[in-house]
Amino acid sequence: MVPQRISSMFANPEIGKQVVVKGWVRTRRDSKQVSFVALNDGSTVNNMQIVVDAGKVSEDVMKRITTGACLSVKGQLVASQGKGQTVEVQAESIEILGDADATFPLQKKGHTWEYLREVAHLRPRATTFGAVFRIRNQMAFAIHKFFHDKGFVYFHTPLITGSDCEGAGQMFQVTTLDLQNLPKNEEGKVDYTQDFFGVPTSLTVSGQLEGELAATALGQIYTFGPTFRAERSNTPRHLAEFWMIEPEMAFYDIVDNMDLAEEFIKFCVQWALDHCMEDLEFLNKMIDKELIESLKFVTSHDFVRLPYTEGIKILEEAVAKGRKFEFPVFWGCDLASEHERYLVEEHFKKPVILTDYPKEIKAFYMKQNEDGKTVRAMDVLFPRIGEIIGGSEREADYGKLMQRIEELNIPMKDMWWYLDTRKYGSCPHSGFGLGFERLILFVTGMANIRDVIPFPRTPGHAEF
Ligand code: 4AD
Ligand code: MG
Repeated sequence: MVPQRISSMFANPEIGKQVVVKGWVRTRRDSKQVSFVALNDGSTVNNMQIVVDAGKVSEDVMKRITTGACLSVKGQLVASQGKGQTVEVQAESIEILGDADATFPLQKKGHTWEYLREVAHLRPRATTFGAVFRIRNQMAFAIHKFFHDKGFVYFHTPLITGSDCEGAGQMFQVTTLDLQNLPKNEEGKVDYTQDFFGVPTSLTVSGQLEGELAATALGQIYTFGPTFRAERSNTPRHLAEFWMIEPEMAFYDIVDNMDLAEEFIKFCVQWALDHCMEDLEFLNKMIDKELIESLKFVTSHDFVRLPYTEGIKILEEAVAKGRKFEFPVFWGCDLASEHERYLVEEHFKKPVILTDYPKEIKAFYMKQNEDGKTVRAMDVLFPRIGEIIGGSEREADYGKLMQRIEELNIPMKDMWWYLDTRKYGSCPHSGFGLGFERLILFVTGMANIRDVIPFPRTPGHAEF
């Protein structure tokens, strides 16, 4: 029989009912007359307290009720006399489904985040990670809900790609060639005609280019899938494998794009407040005392919208007044996370959408402004995170796009299909990419991106 989940026993407590609870032991406390076992089944951050009167179950079973063990408990749901829970289960019988001995790696509390990453196969059983992964699940659902309700089409773009023109990051090569014994052509180079696809291929850094094909057919689409970047950036905000949401919309200009991005993030954050309150309250208590307040702040305030050039002026004024940054500030510089966070956390104290970046530091496909210097880019900058969204209006003009491609020497011979969108019925269009894990970082208050994805991939780490 499938047991009732603990979350529903708390939500609709039927006092006096016979119940079966199955879950894993978090803690155990004993006195002479009674033992209290905190059981968690993953459905909620709250444990079900199991009350075991002395002598009720055999000594052998009692001995095996240790942290990490899996139990099936039969008993009666009763109103709790103790503090901290409304109902508890008065045990009548207990079956050990799986023992856990003293080597169980999650004994008690106080482990470091680094240690917990080493036991990533078991850390979903730690209370904080349960909360984070339940919120992650709700956020994924919220994203589909948001776009579905707006009539966007969920479109699947390939993970294996033969093109590297996005320029968004270093790529992971995909091959079935024997690396110990590579076939060579007459020039002495690797003979990719013998490789699986007959050409060099990589894991995608973005689904955008294929997303643009879809938007110029279906109108409004979004992708939501894994993305791979082989940068050696060992920061608390970078993963080698992360998930990205990329909406792409025909007939949207940069302002429509900003409106959508702001509405989208606010919807997701509001969804967390509406559907994850227990987990958020736990994280607010344990991780960040201002978490819930900061989520409410984001949903209830307009984001600042500011051209890059204005942003640089503000940063230069700060430097003139003695504010120190690790990286230099000048018109044309790529903003570092410290600059982005200064604008958001210290200057405006609000999320900021920065627009119209110098074309040199942005991708070739962005719509060029009349000034000849800037492009219609938009980055959404968030407190604690820095860049959470990157996007733009796209260059719809075939001639201008080709000119930029030639200036940048981008190898376009494999990209004829992308250029066809501008050849046949080109239209103004826009889109952006939201880093899913950066959203989860913001919503959970966690400090390191490695702790909001179940099995993080970073330089030197691909275990589990
Ligand atoms: O700014 P990025 O590189 O933009 C693109 O890839 C565009 N193709 C998006 C588009 O217009 N359709 O990446 C988008 C977002 C960033 O703002 C950031 O939130 C996240 O993806 N991101 C990463 N998240 C985790 N680890 C990394 N290494 C990331 N690189 C980017
Ligand atoms: Mg970016």
